[in-house]
Amino acid sequence: MDTFKASKLGLSKIQQARKDSGRKRDDSEWLVAASKILCPDSDWAPGGPYAEGCSESTWRRFLTGYSVAIPAFKAFCQVLGFDWREIADRPDADLEDLSDGQYIDWDSCPEVTVFYDRTLELTQMSEWICEENCRLIAILGMGGIGKTTLAIQLAKQLKYRFEIVIWRSLQYAPPPDKFLSNLIKSIPNSLVEKQLLNTLESNIVRLIELCNYHRCLVIIDGLESLFSKNDLAGKYRPGYEDYAKLFYQIGASIHKSCFVITSHEKPREIVKLEGHKRPVRCLKISGLQKRAARQLLQEQGLVEEPEWELLIQRYRGNPLALKIVSDTILELFNGKSSEFLQQNTIFVGQLSEFLDMQFERISELEKKLLYRIATAESPVTISQMREKISPAVSHSQILEVLESLARRSLIEKITEKNSDSAPVMFTLQPVVMKYIVNQFKHIFQ
Ligand SMILES: Nc1ncnc2c1ncn2[C@@H]1O[C@H](COP(=O)(O)OP(=O)(O)OP(=O)(O)O)[C@@H](O)[C@H]1O
Ligand SMILES: [Mg+2]
Repeated sequence: MDTFKASKLGLSKIQQARKDSGRKRDDSEWLVAASKILCPDSDWAPGGPYAEGCSESTWRRFLTGYSVAIPAFKAFCQVLGFDWREIADRPDADLEDLSDGQYIDWDSCPEVTVFYDRTLELTQMSEWICEENCRLIAILGMGGIGKTTLAIQLAKQLKYRFEIVIWRSLQYAPPPDKFLSNLIKSIPNSLVEKQLLNTLESNIVRLIELCNYHRCLVIIDGLESLFSKNDLAGKYRPGYEDYAKLFYQIGASIHKSCFVITSHEKPREIVKLEGHKRPVRCLKISGLQKRAARQLLQEQGLVEEPEWELLIQRYRGNPLALKIVSDTILELFNGKSSEFLQQNTIFVGQLSEFLDMQFERISELEKKLLYRIATAESPVTISQMREKISPAVSHSQILEVLESLARRSLIEKITEKNSDSAPVMFTLQPVVMKYIVNQFKHIFQ
């Protein structure tokens, strides 16, 4: 028989609710109430017998976090005032494995078969969504860092909290009005008028109305495809500016849904809305933690060695970079990272294709600044940058460019510990540094 058990959080909720009720654990009224839910047409009385699947021992199992047959589990949750979805522990359930009128539109979402760690990120976002009712969350980070994978895992974990879960990719940059009308049509609802209106603004209002009627989780992946080339970060391409209106309204209007977007760059409308006490948040992700990165290298088939630490550090735990470099290590060095590292070079290889896409969008001044940081012997301060670049470039221009590079997750900030007076310095990840020197030396040397 199929069973459910409570998650860790679910169990603490169950125990708290039982205590708050002021009733004893073995009060037979619990079982009478659950029996009424399971079989409403019969009369049930304290002392039993109770409905099928309902007994003192099942109730005790439920209260202590052991698995219980699904109908009884759902009835017990209801008796304590919970929706079973917020209590059950079913992390591996498939997205399509849903019941009770839930609707999932998974569209072209990639399948995630292997997932390591990211516990902190998932806990943080769950809290924002479930406890603090955030309406818009941006997962930000450089290419290959794991944004899409994390967003999928989040949807898997939280799907029971929502009536509707929708996944959309922006990889092929759909025009904003088409994207919006597709989204409106995807939300099943017979009560809110779904006839599309003439203006984008009125359709945004309609979407918000639907999102207030149903609790939806909408994941929108790959926002960077909408941003301009050769410009500062987070600026929409001509013809795509209406996306800013859409995301602004999603973040600013009252509704009960949550939109999670992934992007290399922080969109400007989000800069206006975000705040740790506001319903719009950003989560900038970095590479995998050491343990997860080791698991990934092991899965790739590398021979386990103490040198892994150095490899992980060089590629900053970026899972895509580690996968690509593992492939080279397997091909050329029989899986031995030590021999690869002895070459004493930062290998960019196939990664340059991914970096090309990201660098296509950055402005000339950003490239110039990056080149100066990449060719400096050590991390540089803002004043040193200005000297290196040209005195004709003003201080505020440098700040604007640095801010843009930070929004693209392309620079690393170094602050000396225990020193309030030391100036902030900037550097680049080794692989980005190598790429920039290779690509731009003929232009800026
Ligand atoms: N937590 C993880 N555990 C295992 N593999 C991971 C994890 N995160 C990412 N990966 C792997 O790393 C690769 C890159 O991940 P993903 O596509 O999610 O990155 P991304 O940040 O969305 O990249 P892009 O910016 O190019 O869209 C994928 O092959 C993915 O399977
Ligand atoms: Mg992605």
